[in-house]
Amino acid sequence: MKITLKVWRQKSADHDGRFAAYPIDQVSPDMSFLEMLDVVNETLVKKGEEPIAFDHDCREGICGSCGSVINGRAHGPGRGIATCQLHMRSFKDGDEVVLEPWRAKAFPIIKDLVVDRTALDRIQQAGGYTGAKTGGIPDGNAVLIPKPIADEAMDAAACIGCGACVAACPNSSAMLFVAAKVSQLALLPQGQAQRKERALRMVEQMDKEGFGNCSNNYACEAECPKQISVAHIARLNREFLIAKATYQKPAEVGGGF
Ligand code: SF4
Ligand code: FES
Repeated sequence: MKITLKVWRQKSADHDGRFAAYPIDQVSPDMSFLEMLDVVNETLVKKGEEPIAFDHDCREGICGSCGSVINGRAHGPGRGIATCQLHMRSFKDGDEVVLEPWRAKAFPIIKDLVVDRTALDRIQQAGGYTGAKTGGIPDGNAVLIPKPIADEAMDAAACIGCGACVAACPNSSAMLFVAAKVSQLALLPQGQAQRKERALRMVEQMDKEGFGNCSNNYACEAECPKQISVAHIARLNREFLIAKATYQKPAEVGGGF
């Protein structure tokens, strides 16, 4: 099949960007989207042109490195998949495919489709670690957790930190990402030690990074490759409000963790 790729090209954050069109022949429907980009890049390199910069690593929906807005949708058409899991059979012969980077103030463009997502890392770091004394590796059944709670925590833990939720949100909100990270520990006994502090610190860092607020648009859940539920955002709001009203710094209660 033939497609026309319209790709956002931008040398760096200091340069203006523009769309460049690349007509491509002989695209196999069985190619992954990233394999198609590899082929385009080989052709560009052979012609002495600059290849398209794009992020990728595992290419199997695990690492969260990949991510582009494809025809206006974060990670492209299809539900519950990352860009690397998208295949060219999702497009038709003759289609025009428009490829853009994640667009958000907190994700400055590095080059072409590559954006700086370290803001998400800093939010994660602000959450700190879990201070539960775990000792050696405990027996699998030593800490009993009801199955529905364990399942919900695991659903939250599936977040791969790709940033599609931010790219999909009209407010560039990172609430789904933060909610997933707060939920996965708030639900489990091991996460109780710093539960309140974690919610406060992560929300504070999220605001510092310049992400917008949630306005219940639900685009984040629709485009999330792991289909993280917005129900976790409701939990984050509860966690934050309870922590705000009741958290006392260790020094104020005469102790420490
Ligand atoms: S919540 Fe979903 S879309 Fe957002 S960073 Fe995690 S996996 Fe990506
Ligand atoms: S390359 Fe790892 S999730 Fe896509």
